[in-house]
Amino acid sequence: MAIKIKSAEQIDGIRKSSQLAAKTLKYLEQFVVPGNTTQYLHERALEFINDHGAKSATLGYKGFTGAICTSPNDVVCHGVPGKYELKEGDILNIDVTTILNKYFGDTCKMYPVGEISEEAKSLLEHTKKCLSIGMKQCFPGNRFGNIGFHIKEYAQEKGLGVVYEFCGHGVGLRFHEQPEVPHTADKNTGKRMRPGMTFTIEPMINLGKARCKIDPSDGWTARTIDSQLSAQYEHTILITETGHEALTDLYGEF
Ligand code: MF3
Ligand code: CO
Ligand code: CO
Repeated sequence: MAIKIKSAEQIDGIRKSSQLAAKTLKYLEQFVVPGNTTQYLHERALEFINDHGAKSATLGYKGFTGAICTSPNDVVCHGVPGKYELKEGDILNIDVTTILNKYFGDTCKMYPVGEISEEAKSLLEHTKKCLSIGMKQCFPGNRFGNIGFHIKEYAQEKGLGVVYEFCGHGVGLRFHEQPEVPHTADKNTGKRMRPGMTFTIEPMINLGKARCKIDPSDGWTARTIDSQLSAQYEHTILITETGHEALTDLYGEF
């Protein structure tokens, strides 16, 4: 399957959905405090997304029960909102994918819960840096493999594990489109980026080993095999004639 080139009208729709996804992450900040459950965050997210005339792409997706993914501490991704109660010192990832007027926008970020350890702080900084390093490789003619090549180079130098069991992906007209965007790859491999392509970069970086295991009790929650911390940041990226636009970077943090 070829990588879709989006029309100007489609790009406009994907941009609007992406901006709503970013606003949802911002809105949820106030609720990421000790004592709140991940179920409560799910409820606040669902209300916010629906109030803006949109739907959550994750709710009901292959049986997933959350309007968002909530992934604390050693959870790498796809944490299912539930009874887990946030506590001081936790790190939490929230991943939101919106469907607005048929178009998909996908983004995630990390939230510190109160004061967090120096080790956790540096993991968050390095993971954010991995996403920005990936974004620098986004321009017409460049190959997708160079995203993962540079992320891997940086993370390995810091002694961190780059998760290879989950990838970024084309997004926009559907939740998951071509291509797969690996976060560890060989230099100058993969297809070439072209203006009008929209896809995510979403590196998951572990303090310890890169490997994950899926919790058999829900079939979704991916945890690090060594129970060490994991972090993730994600943006939806558009390739433009001259470079890229990070459609979910509404607050210009990257
Ligand atoms: N938003 C996630 C991603 O970045 C996918 C979540 S799928 C779910 O690709 F089913 F776990 F919600
Ligand atoms: Co994604
Ligand atoms: Co996502």
